[in-house]
Amino acid sequence: MVLVCEYETSERKNQLLGFLLARITGQECELENVAVASESQRRRVGTQLIHALIQAAREHRVLRILLEVRESNIPARSLYEKLGFKVTNRRQSYYNHPTEDAVLYALALKESGGI
Ligand SMILES: CC(C)(COP(=O)(O)OP(=O)(O)OC[C@H]1O[C@@H](n2cnc3c(N)ncnc32)[C@H](O)[C@@H]1OP(=O)(O)O)[C@@H](O)C(=O)NCCC(=O)NCCS
Repeated sequence: MVLVCEYETSERKNQLLGFLLARITGQECELENVAVASESQRRRVGTQLIHALIQAAREHRVLRILLEVRESNIPARSLYEKLGFKVTNRRQSYYNHPTEDAVLYALALKESGGI
């Protein structure tokens, strides 16, 4: 199942300010992408999108949300860490142009200290 969360504002003619794409497979959910328009960043849009994902994942009895991100993507990594995601692994030279490691994160939704 594919999940899409969108963040719009009525103040600006329902302009899309951010979106999130995730895939649920059994008890796991893979966060494929989350992006916020540059002029709307640092206003908690990303936080609200991930909160919406967590709520939807809970409704589908998901136990873990997984994701991977470029090592150098400090904004995204800071967002995930602030929301409780923990580093689980690393894939060397996973990305191209430029070549870079992927850092893997997981958020447990039940037991073991999850949200
Ligand atoms: C990553 C991204 C989605 C964050 O969205 P956002 O709406 O700006 O994030 P929020 O305002 O909810 O930020 C929540 C917290 O994340 C961290 N954070 C967000 N942007 C940051 C930045 N540029 N530098 C450092 N920390 C950052 C901060 O801890 C922030 O809390 P604070 O503002 O109280 O300090 C956004 O920067 C983006 O769209 N980036 C380009 C696309 C991308 O890289 N997506 C991830 C692909 S895996």
